[in-house]
Order: sequence, then C-alpha cells, then structure tokens
Amino acid sequence: MKPTSVFRCQSCGYQAGKWYGRCPDCGAFNTLAEERVAPPRGGPVGRRRGPGAAPSATPRRLAEVTTGDVERVRTGISELDRVLGGGVVPGSLVLIGGDPGIGKSTLVLQASGVLARAAGPVLYVSGEESAAQVKLRADRLGLAAPALYLLAETALEAIEAQVETLQPRVLVVDSIQTVYLEALESAPGSVSQVRECGGRLLALAKAGDLAVFLVGHVTKEGALAGPRVLEHLVDTVLYFEGERHATYRVLRAVKNRFGSTNEIGVFEMTDRGLGEVRNPSAVFLAERPQGAPGSVIVAALEGTRPLLLELQALVTPAHFGTPRRTVLGADYNRVCLLLAILDKRAGLPLQSQDVFVNVAGGARCQEPAGDLGLALAAASSYLDRPLPPEVVVVGEVGLTGEVRAIGGVEARLREAAALGFQVAVLPRSSLVAGADYPLTVTGVGTLDEAIGLLVK
Ligand code: TYD
Ligand code: MG
Repeated sequence: MKPTSVFRCQSCGYQAGKWYGRCPDCGAFNTLAEERVAPPRGGPVGRRRGPGAAPSATPRRLAEVTTGDVERVRTGISELDRVLGGGVVPGSLVLIGGDPGIGKSTLVLQASGVLARAAGPVLYVSGEESAAQVKLRADRLGLAAPALYLLAETALEAIEAQVETLQPRVLVVDSIQTVYLEALESAPGSVSQVRECGGRLLALAKAGDLAVFLVGHVTKEGALAGPRVLEHLVDTVLYFEGERHATYRVLRAVKNRFGSTNEIGVFEMTDRGLGEVRNPSAVFLAERPQGAPGSVIVAALEGTRPLLLELQALVTPAHFGTPRRTVLGADYNRVCLLLAILDKRAGLPLQSQDVFVNVAGGARCQEPAGDLGLALAAASSYLDRPLPPEVVVVGEVGLTGEVRAIGGVEARLREAAALGFQVAVLPRSSLVAGADYPLTVTGVGTLDEAIGLLVK
C-alpha cells in the first residue's frame, strides 16, 4: 500500500486531509505540516487499543474492584516527593517540562540515583547526551548506584526491547522529543511522533507496573512542545521553572492524578547538582529592603505550603501617552484591576502613572489572596511611605474596594510568625473570635481602611 499524506497542525494536533493556511481547529496560521503515514507494520501503532486496557477487561462492580494499596516509592528528594503527592506511583507516567538548561536532566538523574538504591533497577535513556556525558554528570553529582543503567538510544522499539530484558522498576526518557518510532515517517519531535511514542510508553508503564519519567521541552510560548494530547495522556505533569541565571528553581505540578496540583518544590542549583530548599520563605525574603516604599510582604499559600513573598511596586508619573504597566510574577489583569480600584475607591490617581510590579526572587504570586499586598505595594510607592517592616498582609480585594475572606489563615500565620513577623493584617471576615493566633492580627474591611492603617 502506498503511504498517504496527512496534514497536521503543529500547534494543536488537528489532522486534515489537505493543506490549509490556517488551522480549521485552533485558528493558528501556517502551522499545518505534511506528514507521510506509512501503513502500520504488523499491527496497530498503539492507538487502536486504548493504552492501559487489560486484554479482556469485563465490567465489575465498583465495590468489587480491589485497588491493592498504592505503594509509593519515595525518590528520596523530599521536595520532589511532595510535588508528586508523596512519591512515585508504580505504573504511572510523569512528564517533566521546562526550558532548556533549567535542570531537568539533573533532577531526573538525581532521582534515578536514589530510586535505583531504594526501588530496584532504573533505566535512564538519554537521547540527547552520550552515556559518557551522563556518567560525567553523575560523577559530579556524587551518584553511586549499581542498579542505575544508562542507555543512549532514540529508537523506541529498541528502548522497549531493553525494558523487556532489564525489567527495571523505573524508566527515564530524556527527552520525549528525541525518541521516534520507525513506522512513522515524520521527524522525531513532531506531533505524531511525540503522541505515538507517548502512547506506547504509557502502555509500557501500565503493563509492567513501571514508573516512567518523561522529560519534555518547552516551546517559546511556555507550553510543552508536541501536542497537548501528551498532557492528557500522562498521569502527572510537572513544570520546572525559574530564571536560568538565578539559582532557585521551582517545581510545580500542573496535573496530578495521584496528588494535589497546587504543590511546589523549591530547589537551588549548586555545583553539586540540585539541593533542596526546606525554607523557601527565608530565601525569598533574604534581600528584603527594610523601610522602603513599595515593598510588601504577603503570606501566600502554594497548595498546602505557606510561602512568604515580597511584592514590590514602583509607581512613577507617566510622561507621555498611555501609562505603562509592567508586571512580573503576578497576574497582569489582576494588577490592572487593582490599580483601577485604587483610583476609584481609594482616591489615588494611578491612571496617570507608570506602574511596575515585581515579585522578588523570581517567585510567583497568582492567588487572589495576594490582592491586598499588590494594592498596598502600589499605594505605598505612590505615596512614598513604607509599610511597617514587621507586618505581613493577605486578602482578596473586590471591585468595590472591599477586602474579602481568604482560606488557609492558620498555615499562613504560622509561617509568618516562624519568620519573625509580629503583625498580620487580614480580611476582617477571616478572623475568628477567640482564636489563638501566633501573632497580633488586625482585621480590615476595605482597601481604604488598610491604606489608612499601614501607609498613611
Ligand atoms: P541540565 O540538567 O542539563 O538542564 P536541562 O536538562 O533542563 O536542559 O542542567 C542545566 C544547567 O545546570 C547547566 O547549565 C549546568 C548546570 N549545573 C550546575 O550548575 N551544577 C550541576 O551539578 C549540574 C549537573 C548542572
Ligand atoms: Mg537535558
């Protein structure tokens, strides 16, 4: 049979029978690329039978299904275990994405070293580096694990054969964009290769109770390269983020079938690999200027983890045209909204000012509970008056300027008290009468009230 052609959108994975200048599905221009599809040799390439389906599954009553105890294998890196939801689940597929050079290979290699000692054989497949290069890195990390096997290979069939003979407990594929199936004619890293290889690896994971880590590259826009379908396919998606020149890295779960997606792990890149940062608040606050206008400490919550962050704002008169708003680490639209509220409800004429907002240390503050901190930072900078240094703030701000209740008060306050803060300003509605708080708490009902209390 003659190979046929299909046209696939490199952005959303849409498949068309002919070429279009604009993808009929996602509307992106010039993203359709021709792929030649060879007829599958010796059976389907992995999609026809759903991955993970047992050979002859019959419906069973929910009550009759036994789960066994999901035993998790700890990686020994507690920041990674936390993000995974307590350890690696055998038979699961974990995707780790991040910019080039951020430390993905380092992280999975360190985890492989510990897992090889704790769980049994680990097969580390590198499609980007030779076995010697990986060995050099392992030496630098001080890894000595007899059960860690290296393989420099990119053909998926060969990787499957090695898994068959070695029977590892954990398989690492670094990276999914370098592996390919011979039966497909498109290049490694293309949508169809990534998807088919992902599907085959999923089947491999489910069939052999094998935990599989996939490393994935990220595009310029910050999404995992290859189809979004890869994110749907896997059990867990982790993103490794941070500024390449800064030493701190944050591992964030964006999808997790075996745990919470709000957890983060904080790492530091050292000359001996990634070190865990057990007390990230102290790190993010290390260089805090005391008594500087525009700097506010908020008690944020990432998943179950409280985190103190420094929000900074700089407000300067706009000299011409539309005032500028530059926001790093916070949500741009929320900041615009808060500036409008400050203008209308608190009488600060910020619409004629340039505003720059930054979360110090390359951290992120995206939750609504950071609103009050962002608004106070802008107000403090505009009025050129600092907040008292021993204060943390937290609260959501509504469009009428009201300060609304937030969750996780206890965890936030405990963290603030542990780091030596003496006063917390929170939404009045979040206060519980008679509660035993670890520091002095003050409730506020409106943004105006908070500004009057702290910056006037
Ligand atoms: P790497 O894990 O190769 O990143 P990725 O796989 O995400 O592309 O490592 C990234 C950087 O980390 C690299 O520039 C070198 C640096 N590095 C250290 O600073 N210390 C170390 O011990 C190691 C192994 C790497
Ligand atoms: Mg790498």
